Amino acid sequence: MAALSTRRFALDLATPIVLASGPAGFGFELDGSLVAAVGALTTKTVTPEPRAGNPQPRLVDCPSGLLNSIGLENPGFAAFVEEYLPRVLDLPTRRIISLAADRPDEIGRMVGLLEEISEIDGVELNLSCPNVDAVIIGTNPALVGEFVRQSRALTTHPMFVKLPGDSTTMIPAAAAALNAGADGLTLINSVSGLRIDHRIGLPMLHRTTGGLCGPAILPIALARVYEARRAFPDALIIGTGGVTDVEGAIEMLAAGADAVGIGYGVMADPSLPARLTAELETWLTEHRYASPADIIGAAHRGGFDVP
Ligand SMILES: Cc1cc2nc3c(=O)[nH]c(=O)nc-3n(C[C@H](O)[C@H](O)[C@H](O)COP(=O)(O)O)c2cc1C
Repeated sequence: MAALSTRRFALDLATPIVLASGPAGFGFELDGSLVAAVGALTTKTVTPEPRAGNPQPRLVDCPSGLLNSIGLENPGFAAFVEEYLPRVLDLPTRRIISLAADRPDEIGRMVGLLEEISEIDGVELNLSCPNVDAVIIGTNPALVGEFVRQSRALTTHPMFVKLPGDSTTMIPAAAAALNAGADGLTLINSVSGLRIDHRIGLPMLHRTTGGLCGPAILPIALARVYEARRAFPDALIIGTGGVTDVEGAIEMLAAGADAVGIGYGVMADPSLPARLTAELETWLTEHRYASPADIIGAAHRGGFDVP
């Protein structure tokens, strides 16, 4: 059988299938055996102060996806550390802690406090939430650089930066993140979208727009991952967006992702990531690949060895 462990990944994951921030909560809400089957869990994003999130309605169905407007609901950093983190550290997988703040010093303070906790496997700076009032930091390369620099100075944990799938700003923002010391990129967050109730002619979400996730955004995520891999051959990339089957996971790896994040797919079916792990192993074995590393970035170098 093919070995699923990812050789060049800073986190040394047992499998490249990981749980994206948000839909899997803090991990302990899910069945332990499902969590054990993935390479890592990325926690729901935590902010310096508690956030109640956006008013209802927050979720709207779409063809091939979901529009969400959760608004970073979370217990706040102090309560997270006290009440949630011990349970996160007990999870039978790697744990990446997702953090967001309005200012670089605020996110740096949280990153610095987590530095003392050696069992953490990584931090992810969420600079891309589309559902809060603050500007999307991840579209501004200078701001991205400042957020990463201040956090990098305070931690030795592997650090990922989650960016929006904006085609014009992603590469400069990613360059700023990597130049400031980020170990990797998480691409992409959900994509701003709108639905209108056709009966009354008004937006269906309380905050008008929301973040589109699910199969509808797979081509967008693939394009950003492909572009990032081409621009940054050595960067670590967690490709996230629209993957709900093993074919999508294979596409994401071929585009250049070192790991594949699953968000919407967990809401649709909590057992999906575990199944993807098993199906990926079978596919690699059937195609005589020794590990996922053999197909990462294949689209940049002539594709697969098709007999
Ligand atoms: C309900 C929901 C909540 C989310 N919450 C977060 C979050 O707290 N932090 C974050 O970085 N991304 C969050 N996301 C975005 C996902 O991590 C992911 O980047 C995006 O949904 C695209 O992947 P997908 O199509 O597999 O869902 C959330 C997505 C959904 C659907």
